[in-house]
Amino acid sequence: MKAIEISEFGSADVLTLTERPQPAPKDGEVLIKVHAAGINRPDIVQRLGKYPPPPGVTDIPGLEVAGEIVESLSEQWQKGDKICALLAGGGYAEYATAPGGQCLPVPDNLDMAQAAALPETIFTVWNNLFKRGALKAGQVALIHGGSSGIGTTAIQMAEAMGAKVAVTAGSDKKCASCRDLGADTAINYKTQDFVEELGENSIDVVLDMIGGDYVPRNLKVLKTDGRHVSIAFMTGAKTEINIPMVMQKRLILTGSTLRPRPVEEKEALRDEILEHVWPHVEKGRVVPVIYKSFPLGQAAEAHLALEGGEHVGKIILQIT
Ligand SMILES: NC(=O)c1ccc[n+]([C@@H]2O[C@H](COP(=O)([O-])OP(=O)(O)OC[C@H]3O[C@@H](n4cnc5c(N)ncnc54)[C@H](OP(=O)(O)O)[C@@H]3O)[C@@H](O)[C@H]2O)c1
Repeated sequence: MKAIEISEFGSADVLTLTERPQPAPKDGEVLIKVHAAGINRPDIVQRLGKYPPPPGVTDIPGLEVAGEIVESLSEQWQKGDKICALLAGGGYAEYATAPGGQCLPVPDNLDMAQAAALPETIFTVWNNLFKRGALKAGQVALIHGGSSGIGTTAIQMAEAMGAKVAVTAGSDKKCASCRDLGADTAINYKTQDFVEELGENSIDVVLDMIGGDYVPRNLKVLKTDGRHVSIAFMTGAKTEINIPMVMQKRLILTGSTLRPRPVEEKEALRDEILEHVWPHVEKGRVVPVIYKSFPLGQAAEAHLALEGGEHVGKIILQIT
């Protein structure tokens, strides 16, 4: 099969179209003929050599796909089913395997490219904003990187669940896109200070992918009993926090990764997503935002587009 490999760690041009053996599903897994694969920021980190695949996982990048099942060793699915799946790797290829418990049915209202844009962001947002962050209807979330793949999904999921949303983004145009998706407040972090704009003690949950000096500022905007959820640390892994503020406001600081977690935990998340999120996807209240699609052979151009930072939403590899 055709697949993209990382020929060596480095810039986007190390992504090379190659021939690899078709993978064979193990017990409980399905073999998917991939129609489209989503591109995520962690793929870039893997390409740079800073995010190795978990033990036993293919070195082919790609954390999510949509396609048709061509062989099933899972009781949950049959040959011919159209699914999208969360993967630990292997999405940039004509065929991929996935545990049956990490697959979701492609809703009738979406095409394969749209479906491929869903798993990584929905699993991440459900797990972090709603489970760890315990965001509830009527509460206010601050989502940094509102125009990112994660951000555009988080805005829509929070809005669909009845929460209010504030975001940060890097241009007025991106802020307008976030408002169009349902954000109540959008702050251009290049020209405005989010603590001044929102005010202290105004937010119930912060979903943070920035880290560094954002963290103490995030703690300022959190209300009493607020939750701070870290999913990345793009500007710095270390920070200084005011411990008395954590105590006085009874703040909870948490975070998580997704890729290395056991299949059973991902399946439990999948089941919750089917119950709580998929109905919103099927009704068109949570719609994948696709910035651009590229053919498989142009994976390098697709990574350059993500690194260029002009995108709102997701970048997709169209495979068949
Ligand atoms: N822990 C997990 O389970 C998990 C899972 C998936 C992804 N992630 C992480 O989530 C993040 C988003 O992933 P993605 O695939 O959606 O990537 P993406 O689309 O490239 O998003 C990155 C975003 O960061 C924004 N940003 C950069 N600096 C900022 C700043 N100082 N303030 C506010 N926003 C800023 C960018 O906005 P501008 O262009 O406007 O600057 C861009 O929208 C990545 O860091 C990824 O590693 C974590």
